[in-house]
Amino acid sequence: MLSNIKSCTLIGVDGYMIRIETDIVKGLPAFITVGLPDACVKESRDRIASALKNSGFSLPAKRITVNLAPGNIKKEGTLYDVPMALGILLSSAQIEANIDLTKTLLFGELGLDGSVRGIDGTLPMIIEAKRHGMQRVIVPSENSLEACLIEGIDIIAVKHLTELADYVSGAITISPLKPDSNLSDDSIYHLDYADVKGQENAKRAMEVAAAGAHNMLMIGPPGSGKTMLARCFPTILPDMTKNESLEVTKIYSIAGLLKRETPLITSRPYRAPHHTISDTSLTGGGRIPKPGEVSLAHLGVLFLDELPEFQKSSLETLRQPLEDKMVTISRVSATISYPSSFMLLASMNPCPCGYYGSPSNRCKCSVNEIKRYLNKVSGPMLDRIDIHIEVPSTSYEKLKDRAQGEKSVSIKQRVNRARDIQLARYRGTNTLFNSALSPRQIEQYCRLGEAEERLMKKAFTSLDLSSRAYHRILKLARTIADLDESEEIRTPHIAEAVQYRNLDRKYWS
Ligand SMILES: Nc1ncnc2c1ncn2[C@@H]1O[C@H](COP(=O)(O)OP(=O)(O)OP(=O)(O)O)[C@@H](O)[C@H]1O
Ligand SMILES: [Mg+2]
Ligand SMILES: [Zn+2]
Repeated sequence: MLSNIKSCTLIGVDGYMIRIETDIVKGLPAFITVGLPDACVKESRDRIASALKNSGFSLPAKRITVNLAPGNIKKEGTLYDVPMALGILLSSAQIEANIDLTKTLLFGELGLDGSVRGIDGTLPMIIEAKRHGMQRVIVPSENSLEACLIEGIDIIAVKHLTELADYVSGAITISPLKPDSNLSDDSIYHLDYADVKGQENAKRAMEVAAAGAHNMLMIGPPGSGKTMLARCFPTILPDMTKNESLEVTKIYSIAGLLKRETPLITSRPYRAPHHTISDTSLTGGGRIPKPGEVSLAHLGVLFLDELPEFQKSSLETLRQPLEDKMVTISRVSATISYPSSFMLLASMNPCPCGYYGSPSNRCKCSVNEIKRYLNKVSGPMLDRIDIHIEVPSTSYEKLKDRAQGEKSVSIKQRVNRARDIQLARYRGTNTLFNSALSPRQIEQYCRLGEAEERLMKKAFTSLDLSSRAYHRILKLARTIADLDESEEIRTPHIAEAVQYRNLDRKYWS
């Protein structure tokens, strides 16, 4: 008898519906899987045989064929154990279905004892099931909280194959889980900008960067507080919308990085990989492809501390995601892509010893050494960074000062307001932040008055700016005006934006 069960696979960060057809006919005992299964799926056969036996069922001594359709899409992982086992139970008439299986989606791994185990990527599969008008998804109990993030589809959680069989045959009822509103991760940050003495210029630049998601580079001598400033950055990032939250959670779901108890990610990601990271871990990939750091930082921040220490190849691989907000990973069977719309925050010393350009005149590096060091950060990379700032050492007097700086929460309020202004302005477009404005949008949203045009022209000629730099200044000025809650971009906004663009001249020319 033929049975037909619905399940799901993953392509990039999205779910993709598949069918599992099981046919059992008389003949020499055999268990065949067809439809581009990988080695993992083939191993399912042994797990299923044991799980059936240890749950009081049996693997029929007949010819069993399981087809995973459509056949042109590669099926990976262990998530088909459960639907395949159910298909066998139905096809061999060991149980009879008393629920509408055409509107039910299933996935899960089986333990040899018949227990149903959790898998990665639950959230995108639930989203896909809902999109296809499924009524219910039967999920491993371990994945149930994550599954409940999506409303409007019944989530049935099971722990064991016998429980699943009883539910499908109608011997027991299991009520759908209720969405839990308290599933967010409350990240706790221990640092606050109030603890950073002085550095007003750097703090302001970080406020602008956070408000418009502008890439930012900090240059300064050792111990000037660059790492400390960066660690405070998550405390002022704008709140995420519900959609942004789900988009980020999808990626963490696929990467298997969600906490089971608090599966919804509500704070913007902040990833700070060490400079020894491999290219694959940075951009993603691998035999069973996983999102890399650039995708784990999607809609959040990728902090690269000590930028020139990173492998040249790593910095090169960052160019595509920085430009396209997307990484493409080529594989034998297909190419997949993961979103990677992150804000880059980077820090570096100006030379190998770290003191080039500082007032103490302590730098002993040769011109060539300095050049070689700075050139590890390529022109195209620098060009993609909107804000360049110097972080000088803080004076003794400032460090001793007992007065507290502005608290992160109050900076964050301004950032959130500027973000709301952007969300309202770009409603109905794909643009989320000023930094992502296209040249055409820049023309539309960054109009200048006469005085502003004059200032811009002066800066353009005196600083010998490239057209790319010109656009970056306009986008930055847009963010600075938004922080000021001004619909018009005014001369002080442009003046501040220009000031964030003159370091490349000082160090790289
Ligand atoms: N402005 C400041 N206010 C308070 N503490 C500071 C400040 N600047 C530096 N510090 C102190 O100095 C320590 C070193 O700073 P940090 O590690 O951030 O420097 P850095 O710029 O990253 O240096 P390096 O270039 O060597 O990595 C901090 O942990 C902090 O205790
Ligand atoms: Mg540091
Ligand atoms: Zn030096």
